[in-house]
Amino acid sequence: MKRQQSVVVFGSMNMDLSVACERMPRAGETIAGSDFFTAAGGKGGNQAVAAARRGVATYMIAAVGADSFGDELTRGLEAAGVDCTHVEHLADIPTGTATILRSGGDNRIVLSAGANTVRTGEDAVRSLDALAAAGAVGMGSVFVAQGECDLSATAEALVHAHRLGCFTIFNPAPACQLPAEAWQEVDLVCLNETECEAVTGILPVDDASCTAALRALEQLTAGGTAVITLGGAGSAALIEDVLMQVPAQDCEVVDTTAAGDTYIGVFAAARAEGETLFECMMQASLAAGLAVTRLGAQPSIPTWDEVIRWAMSR
Ligand code: RIB
Repeated sequence: MKRQQSVVVFGSMNMDLSVACERMPRAGETIAGSDFFTAAGGKGGNQAVAAARRGVATYMIAAVGADSFGDELTRGLEAAGVDCTHVEHLADIPTGTATILRSGGDNRIVLSAGANTVRTGEDAVRSLDALAAAGAVGMGSVFVAQGECDLSATAEALVHAHRLGCFTIFNPAPACQLPAEAWQEVDLVCLNETECEAVTGILPVDDASCTAALRALEQLTAGGTAVITLGGAGSAALIEDVLMQVPAQDCEVVDTTAAGDTYIGVFAAARAEGETLFECMMQASLAAGLAVTRLGAQPSIPTWDEVIRWAMSR
């Protein structure tokens, strides 16, 4: 059987409303902000754009409202090369939004899920089957999901994608849990420190806690692989039970929004091409490093040519 080299993302699409502030406001306080912009975002959309810009055939399964944000987000994904045949435009419900406060190279996000939580597991299974019947998705494809859509739909989609032969990646962001039987269909879980603490009860702060958390995640996924992204400290995984760390890129941080999504999308694309775990982590780390030097979610996600030129210029 021919192995597919494709990535299919079941996930969220948001319009990001982003504003900079000197510091985060306290309860009941109004403070001055600046440099407001809107940009295409949503963890699912960002991961799909990262995979497509890395150069692999990418399919999005999602829902937006039948409104101007939904149209703009879909056009943006298509321009990046993502197939949006299975992005539904739903009447009577708005497109998801994320209100982002940027301060000191960090951010805080408030989500309004809108259409993102409307698609059911049945809808996702129907889309996956249609993609499989069209020969777009199957053995060797990589399926990616996160925590911004309905979680039972996400669990059903993960299980079905696995049965279709996909390598499944789950990014529990925002931090969330899956039913135990769905965790067992996860081939690779990728999450940051705080999500790791929420899922395993272990905050990875040093080699010992990182190793313990990775082992707990491997157990949760019934022998799957786990990768923890550690911001400025890079990313970590176990290879044959030995802790392996890939350092973060040394660069000026402008905006961290979508850095983790860039990491996951590029990782998924490299995995679809059959790269090793270490190589996937290296490519993902390089692309995420370039993304944090730019503003916004999808506008910051680089093409692979840009990543190579950036790496060579350093
Ligand atoms: O991970 C970054 C993304 O989280 C933003 O684009 C925002 O839409 C939220 O979903």
